[in-house]
Amino acid sequence: MSALTATASAPPNIALIKYWGNRDDAQRLPASPSISFNLAELQTRTTVTWRKDLAADSVKVNGALASGPALERVVHHLDHVRRLAAYQGYAQVDSESNFPIGTGIASSAAAFAALSLAATAALGLELTERELSALARLGSGSAARSIPGGFVAWYTGDCHEDSYAETFASVEHWPLIDLVAVVSRTHKKTGSTSGHAIAATSPLQAARIATAQARFDRCKAAIQARDFQELAEVVELDNNVMHAVMMTGRPPLLYWQPETLRLIHQVREWRERDGRHVCYTIDAGPNVHVIATPEAAEAIEANLRGVPGVLEVRQATAGGKAQLVNP
Ligand code: DP6
Repeated sequence: MSALTATASAPPNIALIKYWGNRDDAQRLPASPSISFNLAELQTRTTVTWRKDLAADSVKVNGALASGPALERVVHHLDHVRRLAAYQGYAQVDSESNFPIGTGIASSAAAFAALSLAATAALGLELTERELSALARLGSGSAARSIPGGFVAWYTGDCHEDSYAETFASVEHWPLIDLVAVVSRTHKKTGSTSGHAIAATSPLQAARIATAQARFDRCKAAIQARDFQELAEVVELDNNVMHAVMMTGRPPLLYWQPETLRLIHQVREWRERDGRHVCYTIDAGPNVHVIATPEAAEAIEANLRGVPGVLEVRQATAGGKAQLVNP
């Protein structure tokens, strides 16, 4: 019998319209729809091997055995796959990322997208892209968006099957660039999973949800029309609304550092004063994702390196999707 093993790679993604808060935390059914693109050069590569002679699942992340909550989260995800395939046995999971954690690039999205594809393929399950995206969502919400390629929309949906992400424009359509300005490498105190659970305690979250579909539609249309000015306005608006919710929940989450705010002003100045095609968006941490057109990227990257407090700038181009690879 051939070994029940498969290797998959998946990229992280950057959201242009954000996911923050769930209608159902256990199933990660989001309170609002979101839009992102994958980051091509970055990837998590995961090998899953299922065996009947193991006493438990084991998980290696960048060479170190996982334990505690990190291990439990993966085991819980493997349980979904075991149930889908009616398989009784355990898995060895070996995962490597080519991008460091603590750079403000969500590692859970790439990790659960690669895990979902490798774990199902190893058992011979042939899931559609939509089914795979919904499965990845159970592990980490944003992982749903790392399954398809190009510009991706993740729908809220009414139930597990309906909440998945799909491509609505190709990367070739608009090869945008994400310049990640790293201002801190320390680990965030409150991760996104706890953050989603706090979102509803903000008096602003209801207003954010009520207006999310309109921003989603505006962003999608701006991408389809390659209208950067319109994209910049809606991306920054959506980002600011999310951070307003974060700042006003119980407990309040203030991810920005002084350098974060300095970069916000800088990016706006480059766009408004110098006419550059550039805008910012920030996840659950202090580092700033500076989104630029290919024409603007080189000069902006050089500018970013000169901003006080910027430790490093990592460049990632839009592209990539989860795929099976030969180990
Ligand atoms: C701020 O997908 O990381 O980056 O489902 O708990 O793993 P979990 O949360 P996660 O949340 C991402 C939050 C965000 C915005 C976004 O990527 O849309």
